[in-house]
Amino acid sequence: MTKTILITGASSGLGAEMARQFGHLGHDLALCARRLDKLEELRTEILAKHPGRRVEIRQLDVTDDDQVFEVFRGFATDFGTIDRVVINAGLGKGAPLGTGRYDANRETAMTNFVAALAQSEAAMEIFRAQNAGHFVMISSMSAMRGMPKSMTTYAATKAGAAHLAEGLRTELHGKPIKVSVIYPGFIASEMNEKAEHKNPLQVSTVKGVKAIVHAIEKEKDSACVPPLPWAPMSVVMKHAPLPVLKRLI
Ligand SMILES: NC(=O)c1ccc[n+]([C@@H]2O[C@H](COP(=O)([O-])OP(=O)(O)OC[C@H]3O[C@@H](n4cnc5c(N)ncnc54)[C@H](OP(=O)(O)O)[C@@H]3O)[C@@H](O)[C@H]2O)c1
Repeated sequence: MTKTILITGASSGLGAEMARQFGHLGHDLALCARRLDKLEELRTEILAKHPGRRVEIRQLDVTDDDQVFEVFRGFATDFGTIDRVVINAGLGKGAPLGTGRYDANRETAMTNFVAALAQSEAAMEIFRAQNAGHFVMISSMSAMRGMPKSMTTYAATKAGAAHLAEGLRTELHGKPIKVSVIYPGFIASEMNEKAEHKNPLQVSTVKGVKAIVHAIEKEKDSACVPPLPWAPMSVVMKHAPLPVLKRLI
């Protein structure tokens, strides 16, 4: 059945590839990000392959609270119903705490957590009015445990975002609104293009997003993706003694 799926941070990486793969599965798309030119290119690409699909785009900076509500409400008006919202917009900036880069850590916290809260509010406003919907939070494997150095703030924001979604799931248990939390491992995207060393566990964008889309389509409560090695690794990351963990990360 065709669904209407709203994706934030759809201009590159996982968000853009989710849009391609959901379009391929026959879903309509409400796509937003700051870079409108990238969204326009993506819409053209998807419609060329799937002329029957509906793809709407809007410019959105998720750190602008008012704009988040305006854009989500605008898409809801355009389509009538939003079946699924994927909160995906995110930033990988960061530096060890106390090293003079509060600006970078703050920007990551505002984008990945405070803006995820605004997007959650705006999504839930729509879902409560519909008494239906699928709420999807893109967290990260780094949420499994406190992470050192430049990852500290990023990991904390991703744990916070996951908890927002889990809180909603507890509240909505047994109701028609479903909640999924996705914990991606290393997947190629603009975010980790900038990393000095490519992680040997990194998979291609297409492969990683296939695993994400599969978990979302199944409306899984939570999913570490790709499942191998990340599902077993999540147990190790949560429970390994610190000296073992430090060698792994
Ligand atoms: N790739 C991985 O290995 C990995 C692993 C775990 C979790 N994740 C999560 O996956 C999500 C997508 O990241 P990615 O890897 O695909 O990185 P990416 O290619 O850098 O994509 C990030 C997306 O977020 C958008 N974005 C960033 N700041 C924004 C803002 N203020 N307002 C609106 N949109 C904003 C960007 O669009 P504009 O610049 O056009 O606004 C872009 O579309 C993030 O939440 C990230 O934390 C990724």
